[in-house]
Amino acid sequence: MYTLNLNQMTQQKFLDEYWQKKPVVIRQGFKDFFDPIAPDEMAGLAMEEQVESRLVHKKDGQWQAEFGPFESYEHLGTQDWSLVVQALDHFSEEAAEIIEAFRFLPHWRLDDLMASFAMPGGSVGPHKDNYDTFICQGSGKRHWRVGNNGEHVEFAAHESLLHVEPFEAIIDVELEAGDILYIPPGFPHEGISLDTSMSFSVGFRANSAVSVFSAFADHLIDTEQGTQLLTDPSRKVVTNSGAVSNDDYASIKSQVQNLLDDDTSFKNFTGQFLTAAKHELDIMLPDEPFELTEVSNLLNSHAIKRLGGLRAFYFEDTVEQGLCYINGSELEFSPDIADGVKLLCDKVMLSPNDLSDWSHNAAFVELVTVLFNQGYWYLAEVE
Ligand code: SIN
Ligand code: CO
Repeated sequence: MYTLNLNQMTQQKFLDEYWQKKPVVIRQGFKDFFDPIAPDEMAGLAMEEQVESRLVHKKDGQWQAEFGPFESYEHLGTQDWSLVVQALDHFSEEAAEIIEAFRFLPHWRLDDLMASFAMPGGSVGPHKDNYDTFICQGSGKRHWRVGNNGEHVEFAAHESLLHVEPFEAIIDVELEAGDILYIPPGFPHEGISLDTSMSFSVGFRANSAVSVFSAFADHLIDTEQGTQLLTDPSRKVVTNSGAVSNDDYASIKSQVQNLLDDDTSFKNFTGQFLTAAKHELDIMLPDEPFELTEVSNLLNSHAIKRLGGLRAFYFEDTVEQGLCYINGSELEFSPDIADGVKLLCDKVMLSPNDLSDWSHNAAFVELVTVLFNQGYWYLAEVE
């Protein structure tokens, strides 16, 4: 278990002073930190097809970036390269534990856990991100510089590496195992490994309006909504046929606005959009489908766990009406089990004790049976 220690600062004080505002180093944010995954295991993952990974190194002074899956690392030598693996929380239960320390933030904002292994001198170069990132230093040391936000010209140091011009540092530190560097979006930064090192970045990302609009348009097409044509049966003769009247502009706008104002429909879209997996999930279906009676018994004796990276959220109001969203789909359930469903969405692991009010509830057991059979929840290993 990773317990976040903000050094006398309350979580609310962190949010008030730093979140989305300015970077900060949290020394020993994780006491006695240990790497949840070994470098060779990470290198092995980056050889797998479904894992998103990237190698960054320099060749003859030029930045190079290669995308996985990789077959070998032998051409890289012993310095000046780094390997990045995205969505490590989908593939390593141990690594996903780091994310649990950040549950004081709503997880619809969470993107993924990224791991980075670097040889001495290894770096991905100076850049800025659209993420709020908590860079958690694992084994080894890294030298980090962070600049102020503001105008930083970006350029392609390689066709798939967007860098920023040199910047003046407002933070210039060496991080050691357990130290955390929080960087809000837009602040340029660069980390250079001082020895062989690992780091784990928990990234939070909000959507831009354009990405929401684009996904909403796809949703309308898929669900055949918004197809009605604008109507104008009360049209009056005009003398300026080139003009779009104020009334006409208002009705064109309200045709679109009405789709956003329909909260049932827009919430349904938002829930599906926020829970859609951004990176491939490592779904393993059970060998045999679970039966209801079996699940009821199992919930009394075993903890259950949510698949790494699986997104499950509810809206404060509609959960009470029996609606939640899991992995890009709306799920209906009996409103009587709303509090049990909230537990499933709020916590990745639930013990028999957590579920004592629910393990004998037929509707809840039925829901969990479906989730087990989809490979979305599974029985936790007994420790
Ligand atoms: C890294 O750890 O190699 C890069 C992390 C970041 O800059 O976001
Ligand atoms: Co970055």
